[in-house]
Amino acid sequence: MKKILVTVFLSALTLGSYGQQSVAMAVDAGASRYTISRHIYGHFSEHLGRCIYDGYWVDPKMQVPKQDRIRLDIVDALKRIKIPNLRWPGGCFADYYHWMDGIGPREKRPTIINTAWGNVTEDNSFGTHEFLMLCELLGTEPFIVGNMGSGTVKEMSDWVEYLNFDGVSPMTKLRKENGRDKPWGVTYFGIGNENWGCGGNMTPEFYSMNFRQYSTFTRNYPGTTLRKIATGPNGANYAWTEVVMRDIGNRMWGLDLHYYTRPRGTLIPQTQGQGGGQGQRPPQMPGQGSATNFTEETYFITMRNALRIDEIIKGHDEVMTKYDPQKRIALVVGEWGIWTDVEPGTNPGFLYQQNSLRDALIAGTTLNIFNNHCDRVKMAQLAQTVNVLQALILTEGPKMILTPTYHVFDMYKVHHDAKMLPVSFTSPDYVLQGQTLPAINASASQDSTGVVHLTIVNIDPNNTINLSVTLNQVKWSSVTGQVLTSDRIQDHNTFDKPNTVVVKKFDGAKRQGNILNVAMPSKSVVMLELK
Ligand code: AHR
Repeated sequence: MKKILVTVFLSALTLGSYGQQSVAMAVDAGASRYTISRHIYGHFSEHLGRCIYDGYWVDPKMQVPKQDRIRLDIVDALKRIKIPNLRWPGGCFADYYHWMDGIGPREKRPTIINTAWGNVTEDNSFGTHEFLMLCELLGTEPFIVGNMGSGTVKEMSDWVEYLNFDGVSPMTKLRKENGRDKPWGVTYFGIGNENWGCGGNMTPEFYSMNFRQYSTFTRNYPGTTLRKIATGPNGANYAWTEVVMRDIGNRMWGLDLHYYTRPRGTLIPQTQGQGGGQGQRPPQMPGQGSATNFTEETYFITMRNALRIDEIIKGHDEVMTKYDPQKRIALVVGEWGIWTDVEPGTNPGFLYQQNSLRDALIAGTTLNIFNNHCDRVKMAQLAQTVNVLQALILTEGPKMILTPTYHVFDMYKVHHDAKMLPVSFTSPDYVLQGQTLPAINASASQDSTGVVHLTIVNIDPNNTINLSVTLNQVKWSSVTGQVLTSDRIQDHNTFDKPNTVVVKKFDGAKRQGNILNVAMPSKSVVMLELK
């Protein structure tokens, strides 16, 4: 299959309606070939800090609407953005987790120490049944990650039998004794997590051999074919991809790339790749940079690191295509997002960070990149939904706020399972002290009713950019839009001021003949609907 054709052509037209120069952009419905899987818009929830315990799963006495101990205000918010899948129980925690600790009567479950994250004691009150109840409430597909690092082949095999078998068997009997008659039919199943690091420090060769063994005993039971997801590379580690593609190949459904954006580096790059990715690092490494208190220079560096995911996806796709030219194996971006310092005064092992307009610009940009690579990227999970890293939702006791990143997922849900339309343009530069980044990124899709959606991000914090968009083979007569922006890139929502960064109606798009003129405000995410 050919690569997505994103033709780039340089053009700058002079248009009157929005002043100065206008950048030419073309959206081509005639060149549509791939679907943007809704699973690109997935999420990740780990037993980490206050994501599960005191996030989704709260004290029975807390005064919030609940089902069992699951907070329904969180469920409602996530349902509004139609989250398509939820990855659990980790992350690093997955390779420490023994699932049998989390089933049966809660008062009999053992307490454990979460040595992956903060050495806190967990009572295992949230386990398999509770997670799958959460998924049912959310109307989302579970993606369960099995323990390869410290668990046995039998343990993983039994978990799948417990989840998916409907016949007479020891695990079916146990599940029924624990109150669940029918199997859940879990499809997405990870064979370990980051086994190059916290999941066992394995070489790709050793991991691949383990994958072959463990996955042999994770069986397909009637009615459910597993989509097995292998530990993928850390950032730009193409050597990992090469070996696992060679040694695992189509035994896997997907390969799970992890890439975090760090707000660090130097304005003038010192070495190739400096500042982005994760490298081998202690998970609670301080000095990443504050989530809300940063300079424009740090902003520029952070956005450059975020944009690197495009070249990283291309690099892995190239390796994968050598072994899988039909693009049957999915690149899953199972963990992505910005990783900053924790909020002052909070437990460094809990990874609780605020979420600013900068994070929303990263989310909009990254999702545009995923959409444009939807021939290979078929699933992704933002890290993490509640109270951890680039969260959608922050809670404080019974209070809950939606972050700027949440609003981006709300605006972009129009792309779920829509046909991707190639977008062609050459971005003007965002310039800081002689360094440049492409200011504009975009993606487009056409839904099953023929409506076209265009999402555009202007990362330039200082300049409005005018676009002149041609829509090839699109019938449209009206345009409406939404915008997410604020006065400062550092702006964020707090429990006292929860509506500082929220979605507003966008009036900057106008039809002029067959052309769509758009005035993209500085530091903004815009979603346009054309009918
Ligand atoms: O999301 C936090 C951690 O980052 C995950 O546990 C791990 O997989 C990654 O290193």
